[in-house]
Amino acid sequence: MTHLRADIPLTIALAKGRLAEQTVGLLQAVGVDCSDLRDPGRKLVFADAAHGYRFILVKPGDVPTYVDHGVADIGVVGKDTLLEENRPLYELLDLGFGACRLCVAGFPGGEGQTGANFRVATKYPNIARGYYAAQGRSIEIIKLSGSVELGPLVGLSDVIVDIVESGGTLRANGLEVLETIGLVSARAVVNVVALKTKGQKIRALIAALAAQLHQ
Ligand code: PRP
Repeated sequence: MTHLRADIPLTIALAKGRLAEQTVGLLQAVGVDCSDLRDPGRKLVFADAAHGYRFILVKPGDVPTYVDHGVADIGVVGKDTLLEENRPLYELLDLGFGACRLCVAGFPGGEGQTGANFRVATKYPNIARGYYAAQGRSIEIIKLSGSVELGPLVGLSDVIVDIVESGGTLRANGLEVLETIGLVSARAVVNVVALKTKGQKIRALIAALAAQLHQ
C-alpha cells in the first residue's frame, strides 16, 4: 500500500486533547502505527519507522502553524482552529468526528444584542470579529484562553463565542446558545509544497482514511 511506503517520510501534527483519541484510532485502522500516542506522557515526538511516519503532538491552535511552515506535512485539527488561524493550507478531508457548533452563547434572552460597549469573550477573536463585522454589528472582543463561559457569569463580557459540543458546559452555568455561527469538525490539512513533493503518499493516506470513514 502506497501510504505505508517507508522511503517517503511524512510528519503528521496531531492536536492534543479532544480530537487525539479518535485521530489515533483512525490512523491505526489504516495500518499506521501510532499506538504510543495513546499514552504519550510528556513525550512530544513519536515514530512509525517501519512505515515512514513521524508524529508530533501539539496544542490545537499550533497545528496550522507547524503545517504552514512545512515542519509537518499533514495536520489533523478542528475546523474552528483552521477558521481562526486562516493559513494557506490544503484542507483535504472532513473526518466527521469532533463535531461541534460554533455559537454565540449567553444568558437567556440575549439574542441579537450588540452595541459599542457590547463585549464578546472568546478563544476565537478572528472568527468572532468576522461574524459580527459581516452583519455590521459593532462589538468589543475580549480574548481568553479557556473556560470562556466564565465571562458572562462574572460580568467580564455580555456573551461568548465558543464551540458547543454536548451543551453541558453552557447548561451547568445557566447559559444557552443565542446564535449559531456554523458547524465544525476535525479536518486533515496538508502543506502546499508537501502535496507536490510527497503527493503520492499523502493522497494515498487521505484516500485510505476516507475509505475507512465510509466503511
Ligand atoms: C470546550 C469549549 C467549551 C466546552 C464545550 O472547552 O470551549 O468550554 O468545551 O463542550 P460541551 O458543550 O460538551 O460542554 P475545552 O473543554 O476544550 O476547554 P477550555 O475551556 O479550557 O478551552
